[in-house]
Amino acid sequence: MSNKTQNSDDRQRQLRQAFGSFVTGVTVVTARDADGNPIGFTANSFTSVSLDPALLLVCLAETSANLDHFSRAGRFAVNILSEAQKDVSNRFASKGADRFADTAWHESAEGTPLIDGALAWFDCCTDNLVDAGDHIILIGRVADFGETEGRPLAYLRGHYLDLGLAEDAADSVSHHGGVRVGCLLDCNGSVLLRKTPEGWSLPMGDVCPGFREARRALEKTLADQGIAADLGFLYSVFDAPSGNATWMVFQGDMEFGTLDSDLQLFPTDQLPLQEMATPQLRSILRRFQSEYVEARFGLYIDGSNRAGQIHAIERSATPWTKFITDQEHVT
Ligand SMILES: Cc1cc2nc3c(=O)[nH]c(=O)nc-3n(C[C@H](O)[C@H](O)[C@H](O)COP(=O)(O)O)c2cc1C
Repeated sequence: MSNKTQNSDDRQRQLRQAFGSFVTGVTVVTARDADGNPIGFTANSFTSVSLDPALLLVCLAETSANLDHFSRAGRFAVNILSEAQKDVSNRFASKGADRFADTAWHESAEGTPLIDGALAWFDCCTDNLVDAGDHIILIGRVADFGETEGRPLAYLRGHYLDLGLAEDAADSVSHHGGVRVGCLLDCNGSVLLRKTPEGWSLPMGDVCPGFREARRALEKTLADQGIAADLGFLYSVFDAPSGNATWMVFQGDMEFGTLDSDLQLFPTDQLPLQEMATPQLRSILRRFQSEYVEARFGLYIDGSNRAGQIHAIERSATPWTKFITDQEHVT
């Protein structure tokens, strides 16, 4: 590869990463093809545009297998996904998946497919199609719409965000004696686990009275063990098996280095799920494993050299302070 190509790839990766720091919701955009079959794709490029007239937009990659269908459909719908619909998001972003066969859906009065359980939907007539670089912008005129209560699915830097965690954390911490912070550290596709007499666990700090102290205790433990880690966002909150502390687990990245004998890196697809110290840890790792495989998507900016693929992005960790503001007031 020439230096010039390498530089332009690097630049694109950096741009994708920078775009990815904008927190978005996740939508599935649906329509019917010329034969009347439902079609759809996952999109986080949705934006409301105008109230009068009622307009919205979404960007579709020119490499999409659905480009012609959406360009010609004449109408489309945008479905805003709820936090319970990660699987729907993944399905509508995956090549080869039978997207509608495995998804509950119904149709609007005008016959546009709508995803069951979406937080909001907008049934649109196509108002305009604008060529914009390697995407087209679909501008829709809203003909009908609806919404229900619930929490949205959120997306940042190639990961889904659990907006409910801060609330859950606040509730738990107010009912329990102490806080213990652990981490799920990713080292180039492997996860760092710690051997305990009960089985494999995560690197954890000691139980402390408040979140701040617990996090510091974890950072100290990591530093004492010579682990260069960059803690990212809050990944899970649950009650300790003993019932007398709240566990908070952060996701993070670590640099490869020499490890103490009780620590070991496991490739994400070879995690010792059956040998975890507690069922909670097992379920966290199982979730991480499936998300790692299915959901490590970047903000989707298609490049001509990676036609139609979903790209993982090389993200940098998000400062934890962004996610813990609410909870900080509770301890
Ligand atoms: C969270 C998320 C957001 C995405 N946003 C967009 C988007 O705004 N525009 C787009 O063209 N593709 C986006 N994609 C990728 C498409 O969903 C995916 O590439 C597409 O469905 C591939 O199938 P197709 O060629 O059948 O369209 C996104 C994927 C994910 C996981």
